Amino acid sequence: MLAEANNYFKTVQSGSAATSTRHQQALERCLDRLRTTMPVIGLRNPKIGLADNTWSYCGPYDWVVSFLAGQYWLGLSLTGDPVFLNAARARRAIFRGILRNRDAQDHDLGFQYSLACISDYLLTGDREPRDMALEAANVLMNRYRPEGRYIQAWNPRSVHGAFRPDFSNGRVIADTMQNLALLYWAYDETCRTDFKEAADGHAETTMAHLVRPDATSFHTFAFDPVSGKPLRGQTHQGYADDSCWSRGQAWMIHGFAQCALKTGNQAYADVARRLAAKAQELMGDDSVPVWDYSVPEPKTDYRDSSAAAIMAAGLFILADVCDEDEAARWREFGNRLLGGLLDSCDLTTDPNALGLLAHGAAHVTSGFADNMLPYGDYYFMEALMRSLGHRQFFW
Ligand code: GLY
Repeated sequence: MLAEANNYFKTVQSGSAATSTRHQQALERCLDRLRTTMPVIGLRNPKIGLADNTWSYCGPYDWVVSFLAGQYWLGLSLTGDPVFLNAARARRAIFRGILRNRDAQDHDLGFQYSLACISDYLLTGDREPRDMALEAANVLMNRYRPEGRYIQAWNPRSVHGAFRPDFSNGRVIADTMQNLALLYWAYDETCRTDFKEAADGHAETTMAHLVRPDATSFHTFAFDPVSGKPLRGQTHQGYADDSCWSRGQAWMIHGFAQCALKTGNQAYADVARRLAAKAQELMGDDSVPVWDYSVPEPKTDYRDSSAAAIMAAGLFILADVCDEDEAARWREFGNRLLGGLLDSCDLTTDPNALGLLAHGAAHVTSGFADNMLPYGDYYFMEALMRSLGHRQFFW
């Protein structure tokens, strides 16, 4: 319990002493920011940043609802300070509510329950969040479609009643790779092999159809809902169906690296490595990726700081499943991304900002670009911690 508390200044694992000092200082500023904004934010949960770097907040059934709680649990793991424990725990009722509302349940249960409930159980030993996370894992597993070996991403009817036919059965998306950790955790916790079979089945389908032969990726892929036959790649938040959305690529780098770490399966490490090498090639000299690697030249379009943060965290995981020579390449790339974020997106030195990172791109084609994003903030902290050698997370 609280295994990492008071162990903040860890042995440096990657980069020079100057880089590590820079990352430690940034992490301290993140913790300060979380403490100072806590009374302003209260029990609300950030959805997207506004122009003045305050937040607009989400309702209880939003996929982003757990990212601030996740940052508080990281804060607790780093400091042992009960202020973080109380702020995170005070949100538990939201996650009880999602389990009571079928329409609120989709593939994002992984983000929600890994960060809000497994975190609580791992850090405090409390059994209620463990049982809630297991219930969520069961719901997620029931979204597994054995005929196509995938987890259905979305629901055709939103929790607010809107009908989205394009969200109906037969839809696989890159982001789901990040939700498989809930299933692997449930397998470890219960020894029930159906959790692992669903996670492995989905990962293999993603590898076969969403990762293209040149190691770019589709954001989504449509399957025949009856036969499970693969149909076509499509986008939802990217530039075009055949483009490479940078956050989708980042979700997959982190997700496949995490699958490799959980299972020891080198095929997962291999695909994470190919996706990472492709992203590195597509970024050229950039340190924060453009929101979609396929936007026309010159690529001066919106950046996506969240893609950089997610990818950086994933690269440090990838380094942990590679041999030491190769690991140095991924740590260096991760440090480069963190350097880019600290140089051009860091809001922790701006006392008026409620979040940590500027310049996220939530959904450019729907008009949401250049914002703070709660997931960018969560993965920024995770990446800083991983760069400093921390290895205990909630997935
Ligand atoms: N999972 C949704 C997104 O990445 O925007």
